[in-house]
Amino acid sequence: MSRTIIVSNRLPTKVIRSEESLTFQPSEGGLATGLGSIYRAEGNVWVGWPGLFVTDEEEEKYVTEELQADSMSPVFLTEAEIRDFYEGFSNSTLWPTFHYFTQFATYEQTHWDAYVAVNQKFCEAVLAQAGPEDTIWVHDYQLLLLPEMLRKARPEATIGFFLHIPFPSYELIRVLPWRAELLRGMLGADLIGFHTFGYMRHFLSSVSQVLGLSAVNGQIEVAHRAVRVDAFPMGIDYQRYADAAASEAAIQHEATYRQALHNVRVILSIDRLDYTKGIAQRLRAFELLLQNYPEWREQVSLIMLVVPSRDQVAQYADLKVEIDELVGRINASYRTIAWTPIHYFYRSLPLEELASLYRLAEVALVTPMRDGMNLVAKEFVASKADHKGVLILSERAGAARELSDALIINPTDINQLAEAMHEALVMPEEDQIQRMTAMQALVQRYNVFSWTKLFLNQLAYTKMKQQTLATE
Ligand code: F6P
Repeated sequence: MSRTIIVSNRLPTKVIRSEESLTFQPSEGGLATGLGSIYRAEGNVWVGWPGLFVTDEEEEKYVTEELQADSMSPVFLTEAEIRDFYEGFSNSTLWPTFHYFTQFATYEQTHWDAYVAVNQKFCEAVLAQAGPEDTIWVHDYQLLLLPEMLRKARPEATIGFFLHIPFPSYELIRVLPWRAELLRGMLGADLIGFHTFGYMRHFLSSVSQVLGLSAVNGQIEVAHRAVRVDAFPMGIDYQRYADAAASEAAIQHEATYRQALHNVRVILSIDRLDYTKGIAQRLRAFELLLQNYPEWREQVSLIMLVVPSRDQVAQYADLKVEIDELVGRINASYRTIAWTPIHYFYRSLPLEELASLYRLAEVALVTPMRDGMNLVAKEFVASKADHKGVLILSERAGAARELSDALIINPTDINQLAEAMHEALVMPEEDQIQRMTAMQALVQRYNVFSWTKLFLNQLAYTKMKQQTLATE
């Protein structure tokens, strides 16, 4: 029987050490919910890091058994590997480069060496799980070398790769000392997926300019093997968000918040702490709104949730300080005894509380400088049962290709962003309903389940075509 092996740096479950015990919790991010129905299906398995440094063999055995019982196979990483592979090459070289923040990128040989070694470690972990008939689906920028490593070990294997972040212009890729190795690594797959056609075009251009390989009809010939490249915009589990927003718990939370906020109107911002998300620019734009439109003072509050992330990487720690200062300054300048301009939370929240914030907000600000897709935009849309509410969306989020009924802005233009907030706050209800209904239809239809199905079907088809051609 053919199985599907999913591979990503992080497992959908993270193991957290508290004083006395270990607890198993769902990881943040949309991937886990989307692929949940697949990896838990008969015989399938998800290979990845459980987010824990194990102290001894006994603990490793215990964690392995617990995760195996829920269809996961852990790859344990050491503190040095996390420093050099995860915080180093993945999040200080690839992440800034792929998001056009080259000023933050470092190019360290030791980080590269760790990246190669950890990809090799994942390769061995996958080979220990996968049989010759199985489909292997590798995810994201932490594992760009893995498809080629797997291909070398198993020339006939069915391998898919999906990139969850932007693929940048060749001008960014050419800066990387290891650009050829990274591209060759990805080309070990049979099918390579991106969120948008733009990212796919950038990839094809890099492959052509760095490796001299050109694509014909979305296919690249690599050593007598055809690699298919395509765009698959990822969706969310629509029903999960719609149900959470309609739940009794979310309705109750919303009522409590409204009362506590004295019924002011709410603009919402939810992100992981990341310099790519445009959080500081968003705060400056909100300050401009209060400055340029004094009528909104005491009438509107910004609720800003920042979810802690990668705090061992210097730029993330610096950004946290910048956000703390900006919020403090804006609140100190504008607050009154009865009104707080910005309600700032630095933590993650359970789904029903998130859902109540989505219900409460009339406007959502999703204004990243760069973002592969951005699922918060889709979650907000799915949560609006009354079809009211306005999404302000960055033109540089992958989601802007689909959600064209949002107010699309350039996130660096804080004047435009402040104007968009004003426009959203005065938008007539019929207009809101028309836009929201159109976006909901799209988000509901192109959900994470159809995304998964489309990718895996396309992968199976690509493999079948390759095999047919080989036997002709
Ligand atoms: O957006 C890319 C991504 O890797 C997501 O898959 C993930 O949810 C997020 O970044 C956070 O990643 P991590 O906490 O593993 O660095």
